[in-house]
Amino acid sequence: MKLSFLSIFVGLAVGFALAVPELERRNTGFLISMDTPTIFEQGNSIDLTRRVSTNSTLDFDDIQGDILIGMSKNKETFFFFSIQDATTFKSKLSSDIKALVTSTNQILNTTLQPTTAVNIAFSSSGLAALNVTDDLGDSDFTGGQFADANNLGDPGTSNWVSAFTGTDIHGVFLFASDTAQNIDDQITNVQSILGDSINESYRLDGAARPDDEEGHEHFGYLDGVSQPVVEGVQDPLPGQASVAAGTILVGTDGDGISRPSWAIGGSFLVFRQLQQKVPEFNKYVQDHALNVSGLTSEENADLFGARLVGRWKSGAPIDLSPLRDDPTIGADNTMNNNFTYDHPEISGFDISTNQTFCPFSAHTRKTRPRSDFGTEAANVHHIIRAGIPYGPEVTDDETASNTSSTDSSLERGLAFVAYQSDIADGFKFMQQAWVDNFNFFKASTGVDPIIGRQDGTAADALRNITGTNPLDFDEVVTLDIDFVVSRGGEYFFSPPISALSGALAS
Ligand code: HEM
Repeated sequence: MKLSFLSIFVGLAVGFALAVPELERRNTGFLISMDTPTIFEQGNSIDLTRRVSTNSTLDFDDIQGDILIGMSKNKETFFFFSIQDATTFKSKLSSDIKALVTSTNQILNTTLQPTTAVNIAFSSSGLAALNVTDDLGDSDFTGGQFADANNLGDPGTSNWVSAFTGTDIHGVFLFASDTAQNIDDQITNVQSILGDSINESYRLDGAARPDDEEGHEHFGYLDGVSQPVVEGVQDPLPGQASVAAGTILVGTDGDGISRPSWAIGGSFLVFRQLQQKVPEFNKYVQDHALNVSGLTSEENADLFGARLVGRWKSGAPIDLSPLRDDPTIGADNTMNNNFTYDHPEISGFDISTNQTFCPFSAHTRKTRPRSDFGTEAANVHHIIRAGIPYGPEVTDDETASNTSSTDSSLERGLAFVAYQSDIADGFKFMQQAWVDNFNFFKASTGVDPIIGRQDGTAADALRNITGTNPLDFDEVVTLDIDFVVSRGGEYFFSPPISALSGALAS
């Protein structure tokens, strides 16, 4: 039995390797501007050279720029604030601040792009501080993330950044630019506009990683490769999920929930500060190198890491390249999403049991099970991710000790941002029903090894997963440390720009 899997595995890997045409290697794709191609390169599923459809009924002048296409940045600061003086704040919001907020059209049109893009979003307590009492139709948003910590698998909130514990954060500014200096200048400008009407609660500086790691999260894997496309915005690339606008934007086609009219075109922004224990992850991957014949020990370690994530470091999916990384596939946005986890080309391949190519537990399969549901269309749980790494590179000392420093200035991770029209159907569903669910997609699959925690377990509980060994799917691997530690976050609503001088300012 094992032997036949092995022969399929090796035979197919060779077959795929031979079948992949030589393509020109392309490292860029997520470009804010054809003229400034280095501003930000993260993944390549959203390629602004494929222009937005002119048929779209969505108002790209009103939808904030980060939601559908991302503010395409290599530096981004999240500036969390509380409102001290609602009257002054409202007056500034409707005038000077509104004028600074960057729309989707401004990002799309290179001649309109600001030096520093600015977006703004409000928490439920922030709307209350502005005396906006309309029900936005999302109970998770209303309750706030602090109240949701246990549902998200956070082992209490003792690891949370103190600013996130409670409901005191009223809003967040997102500042994105080429340089930290540009961002600092814009923050100074916003602070001088708003004066004492706000207090800074907390700030997190994100930055693309340097050199060849640009676009890769801190564990080293290319991020932002797979994003759903909103119908009417762009045509989907092969394998890209296509979702109704109402999956991401409230009050638009496909959103079945009643919303106040001023909120139409807005989106719920889930923010999470997710610390990454990089030296520990690297050590763990080395220690659990697989034993596939024909691969070197380093290749076997890389294979194990790729099977935790579902992709190789280049972004190539293991479902297409099951034995070794293939940067050509990783860099080609017509190929790097063109897979389903099913292999009808293999006689007798049973997607419901066969994990030769990709474990059920892999991060990408847990968060988007593709054909595990029979068809892609059967999956209604989608988010658009717009996060960015934060924190410095691993130091030599940390590498030598295989241990993350306790020095807070060396904390690193992902400033996770997800947009959706319904938090319970989007981020929260993924985290709770899939990622943290030991029995998703199948009994004993285990939690998502990157971000999963088992519901209700103690902070130091062991996490078991299966499927990582392509030669023995039932082999249990124990994750004895959390590689990702939640430092908390908040749920926000990113309103349409018109609301900044409308309902939110009145
Ligand atoms: C530090 C934490 C995280 C890391 C290091 C991480 C890393 C990655 C990587 C490397 C990919 C593959 C590249 C891509 O498809 O863009 C990916 C995909 C994805 N991640 Fe995460 N991620 C993290 C947190 C999360 C969280 C909290 C969620 C939601 C609960 C999430 C949802 C997704 C989704 C939906 C995909 C795309 C899957 C697909 O369409 O195939 N990630 N992530």
